[in-house]
Amino acid sequence: MDLEELYGQIRACRRCGLCQGRNHAVPGEGLELAPKVMCIGEGPGQQEDLSGRPFVGPAGQLLDRMLASIGLNRQNTYIANVVKCRPPANRTPEAAEVQACLPFLRQQVRLIRPRILFCLGATAARAIIDPNFRVTKQRGLWVERKGFYLMGSYHPSALLRDESGQYKRQAWEDLKSLRAKLEELERG
Ligand code: URA
Repeated sequence: MDLEELYGQIRACRRCGLCQGRNHAVPGEGLELAPKVMCIGEGPGQQEDLSGRPFVGPAGQLLDRMLASIGLNRQNTYIANVVKCRPPANRTPEAAEVQACLPFLRQQVRLIRPRILFCLGATAARAIIDPNFRVTKQRGLWVERKGFYLMGSYHPSALLRDESGQYKRQAWEDLKSLRAKLEELERG
């Protein structure tokens, strides 16, 4: 299977109830051939559902700035989500919805071959790193598994709500750690 076929399957998917409310499924986009980093969010929001593109709303604008701060952008990374269809009123996807959709993300990772999976928020980190992942406790910690480097940090939407600035400071530490890992991989 190639990526276009996979995108076709995602767009036609009826494996869970989220398909009923969708305008567009949001497979993901970016550098599709061995990018260093794949960013993984939770699921499409309103703007993403309307456009079919990941992280194009307010959280996406912050994600763009976060990536830019460490020399990354939408051309040199890949951006995906755990669930490909928007949950009603942006609720957290249910466990059954995550399980139904996860084979698509796994296949995406196999085809795209990123080195780093950067999990944005608890939904992504729980689906990929550890089912009991606690962002406040485990953010910024690297896990190496099957040749991939995994790290979870705050979801940009959580950073937009962060009035104390504490999460933002920690997210910046995580971004610097991501940059350091990229430099380490560049050196080989
Ligand atoms: N939030 C996500 O988790 N993913 C998107 O694509 C947009 C907002």
